[in-house]
Amino acid sequence: RTIFILNGPNLNLLGKREPGIYGHETLADVETRCRKACPEGVDVRLMQSNYEGQIIDWIHEARDEAAGIVINPGALTHTSIAILDALNAYDGPVIEVHISNVHKREAFRHHSYVSARADGVIAGLGIEGYEAATRRVCTLIGRG
Ligand code: DQA
Repeated sequence: RTIFILNGPNLNLLGKREPGIYGHETLADVETRCRKACPEGVDVRLMQSNYEGQIIDWIHEARDEAAGIVINPGALTHTSIAILDALNAYDGPVIEVHISNVHKREAFRHHSYVSARADGVIAGLGIEGYEAATRRVCTLIGRG
């Protein structure tokens, strides 16, 4: 069984981008950590795109291919009804992750369209948030 770990715009620069906010580790490090967080028989597939439509296509693929989704939509969190709609058409568990504590930041980061669908929301734990989210998905799919 596979868990999709979906990442939105600018997260390809993780490790280089505003390290004071997002830290020095990269998405490759995130993938390694999440893989280790899974029990045997569960694997992760980490994807990142700067394009909203690509993320929507991956959520559609998840309908057949993913037992659960961990998603950090980046700035699309705050703008994308289309990502919310795509997630609403997905049946498995969804955990929303933000590396930074969005509630401590600008007001425009306080609202998330995705939270209306997410089974859980994590913010401000740095990249450890992805590990916690992955473990939660494993629990929800009966592989905790
Ligand atoms: C983010 C928070 C968003 O507000 C921001 O646009 C990002 C990253 C986070 O992981 O903290 O790109 O989702």
